[in-house]
Parts: sequence; structure tokens; C-alpha cells
Amino acid sequence: MKLFDVYPLYDIEPVKGSGSKLWDKEGIEYLDLYGGHAVISIGHSHPHYVKRISDQLNQLGFYSNAVQNSIQEELAEKLGVISGLEDYQLFLCSSGAEANENALKLASFQTGRKKVIAMKNAFHGRTSGAVATTDNPKIIAPFNADHQVEFVPLNDVEALTAAIDEETAAVIIEGMQGVAGVFLPSEEYLLKAEKLCKENGAMLILDEVQSGSGRSGKFFAFQHTDIKPDIIPLAKGIGNGFPVGMVLIAPHIKPWHGMLGTTFGGNHLACAAALSVLEAICEEKLMENASQLGEWLTAELELISEVKEVRGKGLMIGITLDFEAVELRKKLLFNHKIFTGSAAHKNTIRLLPSLAVTKEELSQFLEALKIELKH
Ligand SMILES: Cc1ncc(COP(=O)(O)O)c(C=O)c1O
Repeated sequence: MKLFDVYPLYDIEPVKGSGSKLWDKEGIEYLDLYGGHAVISIGHSHPHYVKRISDQLNQLGFYSNAVQNSIQEELAEKLGVISGLEDYQLFLCSSGAEANENALKLASFQTGRKKVIAMKNAFHGRTSGAVATTDNPKIIAPFNADHQVEFVPLNDVEALTAAIDEETAAVIIEGMQGVAGVFLPSEEYLLKAEKLCKENGAMLILDEVQSGSGRSGKFFAFQHTDIKPDIIPLAKGIGNGFPVGMVLIAPHIKPWHGMLGTTFGGNHLACAAALSVLEAICEEKLMENASQLGEWLTAELELISEVKEVRGKGLMIGITLDFEAVELRKKLLFNHKIFTGSAAHKNTIRLLPSLAVTKEELSQFLEALKIELKH
């Protein structure tokens, strides 16, 4: 059998990882500043992560959501403390798209409505509702195209005010737009979106799948603004590579048995993985590291003349150049062995390193960048 060929692949096969380093089959070392799409939060093969998952596997790897599972309770408790959202409720699933799918479904259940307002250039995943709220017609199949979704430009208060009405189930906004190229919702926009949702009885969904888990320097990127979303989908970094998705749900939304469900979500291994991530973030002060190094790197990048703009918070950084980034990214990878990320915005390089990356590792990137820009 052949693989279904949907991914353009680099001719590199990492076989080992530690912290922000990867090694391929030939033993060549790479610096990973992309974390396999923002997934590696505490570092590759983090010893606490490996131990927590191994211990759990030796105890019990899986049972379904039909029985008591105290490790889920422990996870909900720790997540409440670290995020400061102790009064929220937690639904566990296995991916970012699944988290968004459930978030949209919850908003629809809660309001009895169908219409969703999403942002231009948004990416929310590839399942039915998630892809319908993703602004990329190429990946929307006819089967997914009948959802009632209206796209408005991010940060355009007037457009949102005009679009929202009493038929709106939800407004969905990324904590920071990732795939687009790291574009941030303004404080004013988030405050207004919250207000408009309240006035119209719609749910505010903050998709923190990419920007959450401490990456912005706070646990959620929206927490740089004083808002309380109704629903918060989370995935990627919370599992550090183990497939974990989550939906944090405000206390006013009431569950009923059978409302949502999944076979794999919240399984014992997934909970052990997520707990080890939360523990490492606290123990190693990784949110502080993300804040400090993000600020430092941004200041260094802004000194480079070819860099037009640096956007982001913490260790989610979009570097916009005055030319298309594709060749430069290849040179960083093949000449300097550094993984970076692309973006829908072609002149942008996306950096999503582990939150435990060091100043030395980021300096290595700066040096390589300057060499390729012929400084
Ligand atoms: C903001 C955001 N939401 C949702 C998703 C989808 O997550 P997954 O690929 O785990 O389904 C992504 C993936 O890139 C994302 O960046």
C-alpha cells in the first residue's frame, strides 16, 4: 500500500530529538524553531514527559469515557490553576480541529442558532465546521460548504458590528492568527467582540490551539486583554506531541449527558502527557522564558534592515521580510540546519520554538539569518 500523497515532504527524516534539537538518520543535528507546527512546547523527549507517559503506560494506557478517570480530574484541576480559569469546565478530545468542531457545536447547542462569524485569513482545522470557518476555499469540499459562515476582516470593528445579529451563534477568533502569519487581534477588537457577543446572545470562541499553552507568555494569548471568552479550544502544545485536544467551557454553559463525546479524548496517556506539560511549564518557568526571549529576539530582529515587521507575543513570532521567504527558509534549513515555519503571507517566516529554547539557540538563528542576508 502507498501513502495517500497529500504532504509535500522535505528530504529529511528526524529520528531523535532532545529539547530544541533534532537528529536525522545520518546523525546530522538540526535546531528546531518550528516544533512541528507549534506542537513542541516543553521540548522534544522532555524527561518528565517521557517518564509520566511511560509510568502511565505501565499502569493503564486506555479506557473509555464510560468509567471514572481521576487523572482527567487532576488535569482539569491543574489547568484551572495555571490558566486562572478555575470556574471553567473541561471537555477532552484529540486534535485542534476536533476542539473547534466541538466548540462550534456547543455554541450552536447553547444558542439554538447556526450562523458563525469568522475572520478573514483564519485557520481553524479541517473537519466540517472547522474548515468551513477557515478562510481557504481550496480546502473546503462541497460537503463542507453549506455552513452559514460570514468572514470579516480581523480588527475591523465596523465590519463585525454590521455582521453580528440575533441569528449569530458564535464569533470565532484565533488568540493570534497562526497559519496566516502571526496577526494579532487588537485589544480594542477583542473587547468589542466580547461586548457585541453579549449584546446579541452569541458565543465568543477564542481558538487558542496554536497560541495557547503558555506560548504568548501568558497561558492564553487572549489573556493579554481583559476578556472572558465563552469557549476556548486548545490543542498542539498542550500535548507536546501526544495528540491532545481540549475545550474550556464557561460556567454558564450547561452540559447534558450525550451532548458531546469521543472515544479517545481524555484517555489515560493523553492526560499524563498534558499533565507533564503543565508541570514542566510551572516547574521551569517556561511562560517567563517565552516572554523574555520573545521580547529579546523581536528587538534583535527589528535591527535587521530587510525585516519589515516583527509580530507576535512571547515565542510565537512572525517575521515579515521585504521579499518572499521561501528561498531563505530553505537556506536556513539546508545550509544552517534550522527548521522555521512558513505562513500564508508569503513574505513571512513563522517561529514557534519550544518554550524552553535558549538564548544561545536563538542567537544561532540570528547569526544564520544575517549570513544569508549577507550582513
Ligand atoms: C489556530 C488553529 N486552530 C486549529 C488548528 C487545527 O489543529 P489540528 O491540526 O490539530 O486539527 C490549527 C492547526 O494549525 C490552528 O493553527
